[in-house]
Amino acid sequence: MIKRLKDSLLQKIFMFLKRGIAIEEERQRHAQFLSNATIHTSVKILPNAVVANLSQRPDLINIGKDSVVRGELLIFAHAGKISIGEGCYVGEGTRIWSSESIAIGSRVYISHNVNIHDTNSHSTDAYLRSQHFSSIMSTGHLKENIFDIKASPVVIEDDVWIGFNSTVLKGVKIGRGSIIAACSVVTKDIPPNVVVAGNPSKIIKTI
Ligand SMILES: CC(C)(COP(=O)(O)OP(=O)(O)OC[C@H]1O[C@@H](n2cnc3c(N)ncnc32)[C@H](O)[C@@H]1OP(=O)(O)O)[C@@H](O)C(=O)NCCC(=O)NCCS
Repeated sequence: MIKRLKDSLLQKIFMFLKRGIAIEEERQRHAQFLSNATIHTSVKILPNAVVANLSQRPDLINIGKDSVVRGELLIFAHAGKISIGEGCYVGEGTRIWSSESIAIGSRVYISHNVNIHDTNSHSTDAYLRSQHFSSIMSTGHLKENIFDIKASPVVIEDDVWIGFNSTVLKGVKIGRGSIIAACSVVTKDIPPNVVVAGNPSKIIKTI
């Protein structure tokens, strides 16, 4: 009887401590995002979420009400801007990297391991690419784009759903309500209310 009471008390203390640790971890994640981004108080920052703001300007990453982030948001030192609307989800392992502008509407659900990049990140010229790489390794990311790195804005409109392992490349606009099937590579604009799949992604049906 005493042993059972002791076990139950220990279990309660354990659960209490575990909950306390989880709350503290969540507070720390929030604080880290708050010093790098402008986020609504209701935004949930879940474990494994990362924010890398190489420009150190929190006004360039915005996350709206009731959105949930488990993936990585990165803007480069020389430029970049990410805005995420209300009620969005950014899945685990997903990377959103900007050196131009990535504008995501509201209720956009982005599954796990999705890549959304508005930039090539490196030059297509081998010499410039290696100079750029050496420069990053020696002094970090530069404040100017002097290595001819191509970039172009990405727009993802309201109510889009992006399936796992998909990629969205620079210069693309995805129309309202469209669905990007798992493992798609989106290289061109997608109209509203269609389902696309494949590489390069093609319309497979309308909704
Ligand atoms: C390969 C790459 C660098 C080429 O960039 P680019 O020279 O600027 O080429 P463009 O964007 O002009 O694309 C050229 C054509 O290839 C197509 N294309 C580009 N990437 C493609 C891909 N991954 N799959 C299928 N088609 C692709 C484009 O739609 C375009 O087609 P078009 O001629 O019919 O219009 C770029 O497409 C890419 O993959 N960027 C991401 C690089 C990366 O992995 N960065 C992450 C950090 S290291």
